[in-house]
This record gives sequence, structure tokens and C-alpha cells, in this order.
Amino acid sequence: MEHWEQFLAPYKQAVDELKVKFRGMRGQFELDSDHSPIEFVTGRVKPIASILDKANQKGISLDKLEEEMQDIAGLRIMCQFVEDIYLVVNLLRNRNDFEIIEERDYISHKKTSGYRSYHVVIQYPVQTIRGEKKILCEIQIRTLAMNFWATIEHSLNYKYKGDFPTDIQMRLQRAAEAAFRLDEEMSLIRGEIKEAQAFFTRKKEMQQQEKS
Ligand code: GTP
Ligand code: MG
Repeated sequence: MEHWEQFLAPYKQAVDELKVKFRGMRGQFELDSDHSPIEFVTGRVKPIASILDKANQKGISLDKLEEEMQDIAGLRIMCQFVEDIYLVVNLLRNRNDFEIIEERDYISHKKTSGYRSYHVVIQYPVQTIRGEKKILCEIQIRTLAMNFWATIEHSLNYKYKGDFPTDIQMRLQRAAEAAFRLDEEMSLIRGEIKEAQAFFTRKKEMQQQEKS
């Protein structure tokens, strides 16, 4: 157990740092009274039991975890619009504090399950008392609708272990289709929504200035 704590420490540090950095990006857009392509950010270190399960399933030997398990550190960036996802990916590509080593576009190429998201795997340098340690980290970028679907599907997957009854399978497919259409509809009125949100951000700022 003690060695797990040692092993996971840099992953925990990376998740904590990246959460601050990505949330900071949101804050910067707000300062500019600009629509933020980032709605909210979450992050987690994979629980030990899940690491062991996945290693077992994929035949990854435990001394190869660092190189072969890309999602021990995981970040999620939620966006309002599909267009925002590509803006966020570009923001990530332009940063100098990590290196992108892989991109997987499950939006243009959705999975057969119905899953959609954009995945970016980065190599992130963590500064430790023993020097720099580069670790892999998986960033999932998705809309709120994609996140809703993936969260529900994940819980059902947990319950049925991937072996869904046919009616549930069908409902999930239809829900994925509905989430896709919701994203499309929202994209069509994106200009209107952004304008309204910028208006409210400015109004909030003015009210705050009046108070202070
Ligand atoms: P993993 O063994 O899951 O890492 O598969 P992979 O190495 O092929 O990576 P992939 O990009 O397919 O998926 C990585 C992560 O994306 C998963 O751990 C999930 O968080 C998410 N994901 C992928 N497919 C699905 C899906 O069908 N449903 C849900 N809910 N999440 C998914
Ligand atoms: Mg993976």
C-alpha cells in the first residue's frame, strides 16, 4: 500500500495542478467578458482497484503501468457547445507546459456505444523533490450533453457489466441520438446564447462595481 501511495503521488499532483490551470483558463475568459469555451473542469486519480482491474483486463503488467496506462491521471473539460471543444483543443495545443502525444476524436468518429468526446493524451512534467517526472494524463473534452450521456451510460455499464438488456441498449442509442441533436440545436442558436451570456457577465460586473 505504501508503494501505491508513492507511485500515485505524482499523478495526484498532476491532477491538482491541471485542475487549477484549466479553471484558470475559464477565469481568464471571464475577465475579458468573453464567452468561456470551458464550462467546468473535473479531475481524478484512478482508484487502485480500477487500475488493477484494467491492468488485468488489458494484460498490462504492473511494472509497465507508467507507459501503458494513459488514464491514471484523468481530467475532464466540459463545454457548452461542440465548437468550444475544438477551441479548447487548440488552446491545449498552444501551451508550453506539456506535450500532446495523442489525440482521439470520438466526435467525428463516435464509438459504436454512442459515446462522443475528444480525448487528448499529454505528457505532463511534475516537479518533485527528486527532479522532474513526466507522467501521462488523459484529458476528455466534451459538451454538457455528451457528459450527461456518458455519465448515465457509465452507471448502467457498472450495473450490467457492459451486457445490456436489448431494451436498455436501444434506449441508450436513442439517448445518444437525442444528445447529438441537442448539441446540434444549441450550436444553431450559439450566437444568441453567447450574446446573452456576455450581457449578463457585464451586468454582474457592473453590479459588483456599484457595491464596492
Ligand atoms: P480504455 O480501456 O477505456 O482506456 O479504452 P482505450 O484505451 O481504447 O481508450 P478510449 O479512448 O476508448 O477510452 C478511454 C476513456 O474514455 C474511458 O476510460 C472512458 O472514460 C471513456 N469512454 C470510452 N468509451 C466509452 C463509452 O462507450 N462509454 C462511456 N461512458 N465512456 C467511454
Ligand atoms: Mg485508454
